[in-house]
Amino acid sequence: MDHNKTPLLTGVIEYAQENITSFDVPGHKRGNSLEELKEIWSELALKMDVNSSKRVDNLSHPTGIIHEAEILLADAFQADHAYMLVNGSTSGVQYMVMSAIEHGDKILLPRNVHKSAINALILAGAKPVFIEPEIDEYYGIVNGVTVKSVLHALDLHSDVKAVLIINPTYFGATSNLKEIIYQSHKRNIPVLVDQAHGAHFSFHPGLPPSASILGADLVTLSLHKTGGALTQASVLLHNDRFITKNKVRSTINLFQTTSASYLLMCSIDLARKKLYLEGNDRFETLLNLTKKAKKQINKIKGLQCICRDTYRNDQGVFDYDELKIVVRVTDLGLSGFKVYDMLAEEYKIQVELAEPNVILAIVSLGDNEETITTLVNALDDISKRFFGKLPKKEIDFSATLKNPKMVMTPRDAYYHSKKIIPIQEASGLISAESIMIYPPGIPLCIPGELISDELIEHYLYLKGEGTITISDDDDPNLIKVIDRDQEENLMDLWYTENHQDDTKFSIKVQEHIHSEKSEFQQIDFFRSKTFGTFFTLDGYMMVTEKDEFIYHDMITHIPMAVNPSIKKVLIIGGGDGGTAREVLRYPHIEKVDMVEIDERVVRLCQQYLPLTASKLDQDDRLKLHFEDGLKFVQESADGSYDLILVDSTDPIGPGEGLFTVEFYNNCKRVLSDDGILINQHESPYYASYAHEMKRAHSKIKETFPIAKVYQFHMPTYPSGHWLFGFASKKYDPIKDIKADEWHQLGIKTKYYNTDLHIGCFMLPTYVKNELDNA
Ligand SMILES: Cc1ncc(COP(=O)(O)O)c(C=O)c1O
Repeated sequence: MDHNKTPLLTGVIEYAQENITSFDVPGHKRGNSLEELKEIWSELALKMDVNSSKRVDNLSHPTGIIHEAEILLADAFQADHAYMLVNGSTSGVQYMVMSAIEHGDKILLPRNVHKSAINALILAGAKPVFIEPEIDEYYGIVNGVTVKSVLHALDLHSDVKAVLIINPTYFGATSNLKEIIYQSHKRNIPVLVDQAHGAHFSFHPGLPPSASILGADLVTLSLHKTGGALTQASVLLHNDRFITKNKVRSTINLFQTTSASYLLMCSIDLARKKLYLEGNDRFETLLNLTKKAKKQINKIKGLQCICRDTYRNDQGVFDYDELKIVVRVTDLGLSGFKVYDMLAEEYKIQVELAEPNVILAIVSLGDNEETITTLVNALDDISKRFFGKLPKKEIDFSATLKNPKMVMTPRDAYYHSKKIIPIQEASGLISAESIMIYPPGIPLCIPGELISDELIEHYLYLKGEGTITISDDDDPNLIKVIDRDQEENLMDLWYTENHQDDTKFSIKVQEHIHSEKSEFQQIDFFRSKTFGTFFTLDGYMMVTEKDEFIYHDMITHIPMAVNPSIKKVLIIGGGDGGTAREVLRYPHIEKVDMVEIDERVVRLCQQYLPLTASKLDQDDRLKLHFEDGLKFVQESADGSYDLILVDSTDPIGPGEGLFTVEFYNNCKRVLSDDGILINQHESPYYASYAHEMKRAHSKIKETFPIAKVYQFHMPTYPSGHWLFGFASKKYDPIKDIKADEWHQLGIKTKYYNTDLHIGCFMLPTYVKNELDNA
């Protein structure tokens, strides 16, 4: 395509230069009533401020010169379609969300989205599923999201209808968008990208890749931010695999003005031409100048500045836009806000924004060596004035960077009956509005979120620093909250596990209590009415308060009734503590070693499942080892345990190495001559679990002379039908049961009894057949 052409700009100039008598709007009639502006802006500029007509086309239904300009735009940004926007990326983000989802749908997004996305949730009536972006506490900024966190959320919420990613963040971090798009598309979920701050990405290989090239379905670019167009001029890019052109057009026309500004649209046409033809050279120069400036800033005492090469981390900063200059200033004893004000007032330099720890300066097409040097010199001067003279500023606001708790959808909160109260009195109440500082316009709280003490403290701190705060009320000391007396509509939130591709198990969640990524896995705790508190690892159900007794009775009391004189026990896994709790009920047990690879599971279960974890750190006979079970067994002495209980997760993730011949051989070696092994054997019912059951059983059969399988029902595990493997060098679980001896111990159980002990080894025919073939 010929990118020298500017069909819209050229057409509008020609139209403006014709001697036309206007009896249409705008009423200034080609500038006739705006003489003062004519002098400032030129007569031609005012004549170009025209309204839609056959000659100059119509943005709501372009068929002429706007259409031609949009085709060139789509070509320049490598998208199927492009739509000019005259109400900034705010409108673009809203069009994206409204085009992708229907009322009540779930959408996945990071919490550090711009307020336009939150407003879109209100308009669309969407249920947000927030993912935790990566937090950089040193700079005090929030970066991109990891692929793992997106996948985890998609697994937990398989009914998500769209994924929205901010790429780049205000501070320049980008996520691994290629993989996020690939994974989402694999699940037929469209990806929307807020690329407001990355309009320049397509035009130099040294910049992160543009989302439309990576295949995102809808992408919003603020062409006015870094693309060289006039303020408010933005672009919506569209690849039409999942979302139709018709849907996007009708969404745009729902909200867009019918009097789009031709001055803005002409600036888009020209900016596209310049980006396409000159972008590579211009950004090459700017990137070199910025890299050099960053090196200089990093040598200035008390300042640190983010550089692409050292900041990328394959996670929440998969790539970084070098043209963002983020400078940490707190070692000067000054806050970012203070330096922002000093630069503006004393050095006549307007940077983009300040945060408590940093300032952000944006380098773009209008910059040159002189402007960048002016910034570096000013920073150098500030350092000379302040370095070493003030104590370093330590501002700990990390708590407020984390995702707040959402208890209502933004729309329900927005339309709920409310009251306005002083913000100091709002702790523990539900916000009915978004409050933020601008820029960046990322809400500190949004409608539907609980207001915490930390949030109030942080808001008051920001206000005290003289930032521009935005809330619905003119008085920044007031906030709109849900009227508690009329609280209803609490968020309809469900935990869902896919048991098969077409089979799901769901529990209505009252509260998502905790979510974190440990070194090994994603850990989530929820509260529900029927199952009480429960937790999941990588999205898979582990333990619920309501049914954990079934599993823990059956893993423990079967072997204990076969050999009631067991003294030394090894538990592999079992981080929730339920197995250890049951074992330690036997007074003659001398020692229990529990080997759990992930200490966080133990610590969180102690916090959220105190009854299940009641014996952890509470019984001197129990020793916790936070290490790999496979290695622990390898290194244990021969014959050192009477009982091994493999209470592991499924054979994926951290549990993977446990289901091997080598592991079972080592178990056999470390067991005493009358030792027993109980193995978590998965389920016989669904094919994928039955496959693992057979794998485990075949290996145990090869290793132990006695290998039997018993069943029990677990309401919250896939199919509810679950198995343990019983292996021993000596004992048969049925023939050798010592029922009388066990009864004499007086152990009260809720699920296990000695009749069931015999019955549970009687397996259905299809299970027997599968195990015989294992
Ligand atoms: C990440 C992000 N998205 C969207 C917007 C909205 O863009 P606009 O100001 O063009 O409406 C902004 C504005 O700052 C932003 O930072």
